[in-house]
Amino acid sequence: MSVTLGLETSCDETGVGIVADGILLGQALASSMDEHIRYGGVVPEVAARAHLESVNSVLRQALTNADLSLDQVDAIAVTSGPGLASSLHVGVSAAKAWALALGKPLYAVHHVAGHVAADTLEHGPLPERSIALIVSGGHSSLLMLKDLATDPIVHLGDTLDDAAGEAFDKVARLLELPYPGGPSIQRAAESGDPTAVDLPRPLLGKVSERHRYAFSFSGLKSAVARHVQLARRTGAPMRAEDVASSFQEAVVDVLVTKAVAACRDHGIDTLLIVGGVAANARLRAVAETRCGAAGITLRVPAPRLCTDNGAMIAAVGDLIVRSGAKPSGLDFGADSSAP
Ligand code: KG4
Ligand code: ZN
Repeated sequence: MSVTLGLETSCDETGVGIVADGILLGQALASSMDEHIRYGGVVPEVAARAHLESVNSVLRQALTNADLSLDQVDAIAVTSGPGLASSLHVGVSAAKAWALALGKPLYAVHHVAGHVAADTLEHGPLPERSIALIVSGGHSSLLMLKDLATDPIVHLGDTLDDAAGEAFDKVARLLELPYPGGPSIQRAAESGDPTAVDLPRPLLGKVSERHRYAFSFSGLKSAVARHVQLARRTGAPMRAEDVASSFQEAVVDVLVTKAVAACRDHGIDTLLIVGGVAANARLRAVAETRCGAAGITLRVPAPRLCTDNGAMIAAVGDLIVRSGAKPSGLDFGADSSAP
């Protein structure tokens, strides 16, 4: 059995996870989220400093949780991109130092592969072929997956503008709900009417082949902005809960419709939904119902494994180690815009 330690620092979460043969042995997480709240978004300098301060204590905590010592670790994996450059640099530097000091192989891991692999910790190995919908603060993509460690991930479509999580965050700001927007919108939406505001479903219905699996959320955000501005100008009654609920319903409708279509088009019967937005309760419920009706097996990790964490990076590292692939060495850099 080989023990792989994974480190994630691409945004505001410092995460360390430890995985062996697809089993999560322990993990720990620190977040600088509270320091960003008053700015309404992540401040890269603040996030990088927080990573630097917490990375070694998160490592120690993860080892304690896994009941392991550092010399029992066989390999190290680290997020090399994409993400905030200054945040990535801290993680890559720390992981290089650990690998060098311990004489262990180091593997550079793509953040998005991590989000997908998070699901394998809960639901086991991926089937031969699957479709993944990755929805986070930086990504909204439909992907075709084979073997995560050895086969390339095929992009079916991406967002043309804002990522889904970004749209949640921006709409929350419009509604004066606290950052991060996703959980705030979800909470507000619980007591809102999803049919109260008539909002567009961008790129749904009749679209060109090129945009069949593409997303666009900036127009939806602008439609919410127009609604809010009009209500504020005219004094018309407006409940933030209703706007939040209508917005959430529109995003969820678009995401699930396109993901189910991608599965049908490609004759694939397993759909994964991963990334921070996959923690959204309404997205999970609608996907469950529609996948059930379409005969598609839905896999969504527990909310804690949806948002950024170290376990997901350890999960990819573990798959790569077991595939027998060569380590990355010590000469790679952080690639903040990794494709
Ligand atoms: O995957 P993640 O933790 O970081 C990135 O890689 O971006 O995703 C963060 C995003 C944020 O935009 C946040 O608002 C969103 O995920 N998010 C949610 C929920 N929880 C987090 N969006 C909708 N509903 C949620 N419950
Ligand atoms: Zn992420």
